[in-house]
Amino acid sequence: MDNILEIKNINVGFKIEDNFYYALNNINLSFKKGKIHAIAGESGCGKSVLINTILKLLPKNGKIRGGEIVFQNKNLLTLSDKEIQNIRGAKISLIPQDPFMSLNPLYTIENQLLEVKNDIEIIKKSLEEVKIKNIENVLKSYPHELSGGMKQRIIIAMSLISGAELILADEPTTALDVSTSNSILDLLVNLKNKGKTIILITHDLSIVSNYCDTTTIMYLGNIIEQNESKLLFKNPLHPYTKALLSALPTKKGKKLENIKGQISPITETISGCKFHPRCNFTMDTCKNIKPELKKHDNGYCACFLCNQ
Ligand SMILES: Nc1ncnc2c1ncn2[C@@H]1O[C@H](COP(=O)(O)OP(=O)(O)OP(=O)(O)O)[C@@H](O)[C@H]1O
Ligand SMILES: [Mg+2]
Repeated sequence: MDNILEIKNINVGFKIEDNFYYALNNINLSFKKGKIHAIAGESGCGKSVLINTILKLLPKNGKIRGGEIVFQNKNLLTLSDKEIQNIRGAKISLIPQDPFMSLNPLYTIENQLLEVKNDIEIIKKSLEEVKIKNIENVLKSYPHELSGGMKQRIIIAMSLISGAELILADEPTTALDVSTSNSILDLLVNLKNKGKTIILITHDLSIVSNYCDTTTIMYLGNIIEQNESKLLFKNPLHPYTKALLSALPTKKGKKLENIKGQISPITETISGCKFHPRCNFTMDTCKNIKPELKKHDNGYCACFLCNQ
């Protein structure tokens, strides 16, 4: 089978006070092996909830309703806590936005890496692969002694050491400067060239076209467009994707256009298309009926304008 991970009809919500609000609505996604897949959208669209759902790391008030998450032919949602713990780290690894989340401040890097695999030669080889120089010094360091970029390299080395085949990277470069960020993204491409599959969460579409094979755009818990990255950039279909792309800084460093308004909290009810209050092309239908994600010659899109 070509797909390493399939998400089928997943709905996730949170209990807030005495009500239940959905943060992910009927999500269907397939991830081909050996590719970098981007999931993009503004803050609050549900990117991290999706990643935490895959790893079953939702907070207590979060519930997955229905659906399946199939990883290497196993539905992760039916596994026991122990079984999922064996998959986390070893088979599916997480590169978080803040690498401190994955590193224990009380232990040296060497001790933490030895926990992943008790083999110092494999550890040193992996540190070389993520382009860490003075390896001996770094091994003896504590996390707070290393820069943000260095910590992210250690986390990437961890996924190499563990042998994980699927890597979930939740905005791994947001906290880094541009050149460090590019070198971390280059490392992700190296991982892909070794056959790993990467799901890269980002709100920065400017990195997507260079690094990612496919792109999924989310808006308020829904997938609204999906395509090969090159095609999506060349020919965006959904007004939200078009707006996101036109909000990118130009080569001359100018921002062209901002999208009006803000993404709503999940506690707010929006009828029809969730994007309609911010869309420049809203029709009456958009206010009442939710457009489905449909296949087109040029990819998948959930909008009445492209669903005609
Ligand atoms: N534990 C929780 N309880 C209630 N609501 C939550 C909880 N966790 C997330 N949410 C809500 O779910 C929605 C999606 O959040 P999520 O963290 O996935 O956004 P995101 O796309 O990752 O944004 P960002 O780019 O800022 O990281 C938001 O409206 C958020 O407030
Ligand atoms: Mg997030």
